[in-house]
Amino acid sequence: MKSVIEATNLIKSYNSFHAVNGLSFQVHEGECFGLLGPNGAGKSSTFKMMYGSARISEGDLYILGLNAKLHMSKIKALIGVVPQENGLDPDFSVMDNLLIYGNYFRLPKLTIRNRAMELLAMMQLEDHAEKQIEQLSGGMKRRLVLARALLSKPKLIFLDEPTTGLDPQARGWIWDELRALQKSGTTLVLTTHYMEEAEVLCDRLLIMNNGQMMAEGSPDDLILNHVGKEVIEFEVSPKEIEYFIQKIEGKFVYQVMRAGLKLFLRGDQTPRDAINEISSPNITMRKASLNDVFLKISGNELND
Ligand SMILES: Nc1ncnc2c1ncn2[C@@H]1O[C@H](COP(=O)(O)OP(=O)(O)OP(=O)(O)O)[C@@H](O)[C@H]1O
Ligand SMILES: [Mg+2]
Repeated sequence: MKSVIEATNLIKSYNSFHAVNGLSFQVHEGECFGLLGPNGAGKSSTFKMMYGSARISEGDLYILGLNAKLHMSKIKALIGVVPQENGLDPDFSVMDNLLIYGNYFRLPKLTIRNRAMELLAMMQLEDHAEKQIEQLSGGMKRRLVLARALLSKPKLIFLDEPTTGLDPQARGWIWDELRALQKSGTTLVLTTHYMEEAEVLCDRLLIMNNGQMMAEGSPDDLILNHVGKEVIEFEVSPKEIEYFIQKIEGKFVYQVMRAGLKLFLRGDQTPRDAINEISSPNITMRKASLNDVFLKISGNELND
């Protein structure tokens, strides 16, 4: 399998703080690779090093076979970027934002304009082409940034929370567009806080926290290896929580995960037997999901 990104012991430091602390991973050609993690985990810092808006503090990074420390301007001409912050130019109209961005790729003006119109239609913004940026809603701005990222028909696209701020319907058709891009051979690298988005779009995921990798694998493998097939979930009061943890841990071979006032059980057997032993209201058994993996890996940290 051909790698389009190879990161080895990447470090991003802000003064003495390591926002990214020795991260190594590879992204294969044509896959959708997702970076997950709680707020402040270091996802955007990793992204910024990959698309050249932050200096690499330490480590090695190759993008499309090019050393990112030496050839970032070449890399920038080959990739598409949806940054977490939109970075649209408020002094220009929607269309002009695309045209000016397109100039960077040295494509003929007519080609850029045709492509811009095509993308505005794809993002359902064709009626807004002459508007100023400040006249757009938050979701419209996000869709414009997606259009901007696709302008040069890049084969590798970085998407830092692409659908944050989009309504559920828009999110749905953006997913369809992203899947179609992947089908046509484009490699996608994305971050998201929507576990459903990661499950729907990503072939492989890297979960990070505190600048480091916590787990890596396909969504299905991560679920099976870190949580199991099913979970039971119940809510307890702050007073009860230690009591329940003791009771369950003493009696069952289940692992107890805690997220706020919720307890989750995982185990190799079905956790069904445990239900009878726990007399708590609001108890549910359901299929394990990526959300459980995320909570298990980063949940304790988030609640401390
Ligand atoms: N320019 C900066 N100067 C100093 N610290 C920074 C800077 N940018 C990010 N950080 C810190 O680095 C850490 C990682 O931030 P980063 O933006 O990479 O997180 P993230 O995983 O993208 O979070 P989110 O999900 O909230 O977008 C945080 O502790 C943040 O405060
Ligand atoms: Mg971020």
